[in-house]
Amino acid sequence: MAKRNIIKEPNEILRKRSKGVTEFDTRLHQLLDDLRDTMQSAAGVGIAGVQVGILYRVCLVNTEDKGIIELVNPVIIKATGKKSGEEGCLSVPGHHGMLARPTKVTVRAQDRNGKFFEHTFVDRSAVCVCHELDHLDGVLFVDRLG
Ligand code: CO
Repeated sequence: MAKRNIIKEPNEILRKRSKGVTEFDTRLHQLLDDLRDTMQSAAGVGIAGVQVGILYRVCLVNTEDKGIIELVNPVIIKATGKKSGEEGCLSVPGHHGMLARPTKVTVRAQDRNGKFFEHTFVDRSAVCVCHELDHLDGVLFVDRLG
């Protein structure tokens, strides 16, 4: 396991769309382990592969109830509610902004071994999962500010 460098704006990699994961191998597991170390050492609540320069559809969300959840190829299948809150990003240091996000988000994803699962994120974790999924499409929270 290792901490990787976090890519910061305006690096153009952050604007790229990540590709789906097809191999659930030791390289993927290493990436997920490294993302965990990198997120924790930066005291982040979420992180996406693109933030360490790896354009795969993977991200981590640190939830209040279930700890860190690894999401591979995540897709939002249901989103309800709307609430405005302050948001920041490890790739946009020193910047925060008020953004409206859903309050309850159900995601279908695969785990590190390729097994499909669904998880419902609420409140702060719902914001975080929306933010991380945006990263997979090359979108930063600052792009959503009015
Ligand atoms: Co971010």
